[in-house]
Amino acid sequence: MALGCTMRFAVGDMAVEMAPFSREDVLAFIPGMARMSTVRYISFHTAQTAETEQEWYDKVIKDKSSFIWGLWAIENGERTLIGNSALTNITKDHIIQATSGSVITNQLYWGRGIASAAHMARAWYVFEQYGMHRIKSAVIQGNQRSRRALEKSGYSYVYTERNEQFIEGTLRHLDCFECLNPADWAWKAWWGEDTPTQAAVTAREKTQYALEWAAQNVELL
Ligand SMILES: CC(C)(COP(=O)(O)OP(=O)(O)OC[C@H]1O[C@@H](n2cnc3c(N)ncnc32)[C@H](O)[C@@H]1OP(=O)(O)O)[C@@H](O)C(=O)NCCC(=O)NCCS
Repeated sequence: MALGCTMRFAVGDMAVEMAPFSREDVLAFIPGMARMSTVRYISFHTAQTAETEQEWYDKVIKDKSSFIWGLWAIENGERTLIGNSALTNITKDHIIQATSGSVITNQLYWGRGIASAAHMARAWYVFEQYGMHRIKSAVIQGNQRSRRALEKSGYSYVYTERNEQFIEGTLRHLDCFECLNPADWAWKAWWGEDTPTQAAVTAREKTQYALEWAAQNVELL
């Protein structure tokens, strides 16, 4: 685990790779990770430096309970590291599940559909190649981009944790989402004797659509 294998897909006219990255590559994250507009919803509002990014890298590549990918944009023959996408805290007690995290540190690439496509590719990878049952995600209220990217790619709202962060003068709540593996074996394991909610049934269809997109459009190298 730790670094995920390479996946390649197109987002509009651009080729995107989710692929390994090196200790030196993480320096590309620093300008973005020093901006409040990038970290507002993801951290304790601290800027990162070469030292802290490389310390983080050393930790994550050894972490056997996570998958992490660099997000690479490929344009005009150039391959640029623009962010990362991770599934962390993978637990295997009865049910295999993980927590999602994504950041596109280069803001020039926001709003182009990259996170949504990466969410779909990543779910496909861990559901189809790893047998995961569930991915959890959470979004601070106000982070509309993140919420929209999750909803578009097969995640559904589950519940809200109150007062998670203080941002721009006010306490913000945290909306918790999940993406359930829609395959019959995983669906039955998750729901057991319970009747799935209507919202879960609707979300299952969205997730199936996301996985079909990935099966047709993602090249797993
Ligand atoms: C959140 C983040 C990963 C999203 O990545 P992205 O590639 O820009 O996301 P996408 O382009 O796939 O989807 C964004 C969607 O939000 C929409 N959107 C953008 N601004 C919006 C707003 N203010 N209100 C509502 N929707 C908005 C976009 O139009 C797009 O939806 P569409 O494709 O239906 O038009 C990226 O903005 C980021 O790295 N932010 C900083 C870190 C962060 O907040 N990470 C997530 C923590 S939970």
